[in-house]
Parts: sequence; C-alpha cells; structure tokens
Amino acid sequence: MDKLIIEGGVKLKGEVTVSGAKNAVLPILAATLLTDEPCVIKNVPNLRDSNSMFKILRSLGKIVEFDKGKVTVCAGKTSNYIAEYKLVSTMRASFCVLGPLLGKLKKAKVSLPGGCVIGVRPVDLHLKGIKALGAQINIDSGYVEAKAKCLHGAYIYLGGVYGSSVLATDNVMMAAVLAKGKTIIESAACEPEVADLAEFLIKMGAKIKGHGTPIIEIEGVKSLRGAMHVIIPDRIEAGTMVLAALITEGDILIKNVQYHHLGALIDKLKEAGAHLSYADGSLHVKGNKRLKAVNITTLPYPGFPTDMQAQMMALMCVTGGISVITEKIYPDRFMHVAELNRMGAHIQREGPHAIVEGIKGLSGAPVMASDLRASACLVLAGLAARGKTSISRIYHLERGYEFIEQKLINLGAKVWREKE
Ligand code: UD1
Repeated sequence: MDKLIIEGGVKLKGEVTVSGAKNAVLPILAATLLTDEPCVIKNVPNLRDSNSMFKILRSLGKIVEFDKGKVTVCAGKTSNYIAEYKLVSTMRASFCVLGPLLGKLKKAKVSLPGGCVIGVRPVDLHLKGIKALGAQINIDSGYVEAKAKCLHGAYIYLGGVYGSSVLATDNVMMAAVLAKGKTIIESAACEPEVADLAEFLIKMGAKIKGHGTPIIEIEGVKSLRGAMHVIIPDRIEAGTMVLAALITEGDILIKNVQYHHLGALIDKLKEAGAHLSYADGSLHVKGNKRLKAVNITTLPYPGFPTDMQAQMMALMCVTGGISVITEKIYPDRFMHVAELNRMGAHIQREGPHAIVEGIKGLSGAPVMASDLRASACLVLAGLAARGKTSISRIYHLERGYEFIEQKLINLGAKVWREKE
C-alpha cells in the first residue's frame, strides 16, 4: 500500500482541468445494460471506481474497451443477471445495475452492498421503487433477487428519512424506462448526475421529463438503442480544487466547470469572504487572505453537498472564528475529525454537528484516510500545513480523483508517494 507525502505551505498556482463526474459515469455505464447495441461514453475519468464498473459490466456479458477517456461498450447481449458479492462489495454504486438488469431481462440478482465507514447506507428506497413497478423481491444469502413477468408504470414516492436518494432514483428510473405505461417518481433526487443519466437514457430512446427536479415522469418504451454521450464535469473535484486554491492562498484557474452545479458551495465561500470569478466554463479562484468562519449544513442537491463536507471542514480549520458543520445526509460522516485534530485543528464532534474553532495554521502529521472525501480533506489540510504530512490508505483517493497527484504537482504542490 502507498502513502501520500505532502510538504505543505506552497501557494498553488496555475491551471487545472476538471475530469468527468464519477457519480455520473457509474450509473451511465450501468445503463448500457439496457440495450444490446453499442454505446460510446466520453470524458470518462480513469478511476478505480470506473474500472470496478467495467469489471461488473464484463461479468454481465458486455465487452468494454477504455482508451483515453472514451469507453466503448460493444454490442453484446446482457446475458448474465447475477452481480456477485466480490464485485459489488468493492463499490456501493455497483448496486445500480439492479434497475437496468431488471428492466432488460426482467430478472436480476445483485449482492447487497453493505455499509461503509460513512454510515449504514440502507437500500430500502431502491427496493420500494422496484417493487412498485411490479417486481417480486426476495432477499437471500446477502443477495437481492428481483423478478417480474412484466414491469408496469407506477406512482412512486421515493423520499426517505434523509430526503431523496441519488442511486435509488437512478435504479428506479432505469427500471421504469422499459416498463409498460407511465411512472412518476416523486421526491426524486435532483443531483446533476441524475439529470445526466436521464439525458443519456433519452439519447437511447427513453421518454423522460422533469429530470433535475423532484418529480420525474417516465413513459415506458419497448426497447432502447445504443447512444453516444459526454459525461458532465465533476462538481466535487471542481469544488475540491476551489478549496485547494483558498486553503493555500493560491491562484488557480479551474477549467471545465459548470458554475450552477456549485451554487451552494460558492454561496458559502462568498459569505466567508472569498473572491471567485467565472467566465467561459472556467472558475478563477484567488485566495489572498484568511477567510471568515461560516456555518454549513449538508442537504440533498441543490443544498450543500455531503461530498464537500470534509474538504470544507479542512478550510474552516484555518479561518478566523467558529464554524458549526451539520451533516444531514450521513450523520456519522466525521471520520476525518480525529485526523484533522492530529494536525492541530480544534474540532469537537457533537452528534451530527462538528464545531470547528479556527486556528492560525495546521501542522503536518502522519494521518490515515478513511474514505474518499476524507482523503481529499486530508490532502487539503496537508497542502496548507507547516511541514510534512503523510496520508496512509491513500488508495481511497484513487476511487474518485483522476490524476490528482499530477494535477497538484502541476500547480506547484510538493507531493509524492512512498510505500507504507
Ligand atoms: C450518492 C453518491 C455519493 C453521495 C450521496 C449523497 C454516487 C455513486 N454516490 O450515493 O457520493 O455522498 O449520493 O449525495 O452517486 N438512504 C436510505 N435508503 C435508501 C437509500 C438511501 O435511507 O434506500 C439514505 C442514505 O443512507 C443517506 C441518504 O438516503 O442518508 C442519501 O443517500 P443516497 O442519495 O442514496 O446516496 P447514494 O446514492 O448511495
């Protein structure tokens, strides 16, 4: 296993281009199971998670080729309907093959993904939606088995205790596109990645309206064709780069950004006193002063993203004042708190809240990454800290940030890998 070493204190400067969105590409790859025709997906990030999804598609009978950001899922029947534990357990998003397998083959057997360090992560909403479309569900030996003679459209309220669910909306939408009649998903997730999946399905011949809003309407069709699609830019990578500029008091031009996807983050950063300017798909961030502390509450889109909570906490550690960070999606997503405190931060956790007392500066320390976004948080903290930070279990970062070390090195960061 590798660890990442960062010699902190360098003000990052230059240009960086954001890669395709991880959370859009995974369900879009799963959607290729809905057709036997070839599909071409462009702007696909070279990530551990993308590779996990290629493996799952191959195990289900597809021929997948990946070259320089372009994936071709070749004509080949979706022949197998079982997604095995050893593949699904590596990545929770694999569970979104359930909807397309059921839609196409009218049967699916998919391993339950289990929990992870950020929380329990149930799948009740996925199953509720699939059942409403007429599938029979059986859970046995850690697998969900779903089958139906024929799926039919239905009215489905998909809101849960923590609001809408991204992958449940994806799964139900992918099953419903080949169901008979009209489906309405109410309290659907509005995340741009869900809307991107809908755009791809529409190119395949699906009839979908309202994607990107809480009410999605789907009129089932008999079959879907192959299609070509370009993945939207990754808003979480873009947001992480914005914070890299601010936390190092650097000056970065971030290219390939969809500004309106970053609304909640930018609003908070402006409240904190940051200066950001946007033109022609690029965001210019110049950090030249200590920011004010701001309070943050994570919520489903268009609220502040839970996937930016850890990185924002790193920034709040070095602001002037006290910030209260409330996690409303995953109340236990605070594994990074103890690691930031090892770097000198003053953070106290109280249930779903973290109270961050800003200090002048962090100091480098050996720390451990617990999940993808916690790794990004520790990288940001390491970039800002005095001295050397070594982050072990850095493989988490490779799940969601394409060429991240090279991108940081190009911006002047002193970053390298060492064997643990
Ligand atoms: C997706 C993202 C992940 C992000 C999360 C929340 C992908 C591949 N991953 O994960 O990066 O952190 O959205 O924005 O897109 N829930 C239930 N029952 C369910 C499903 C979810 O109670 O059946 C709860 C979850 O435990 C959580 C909340 O709903 O509290 C939102 O989770 P959800 O949107 O489903 O997350 P994912 O789609 O798994």
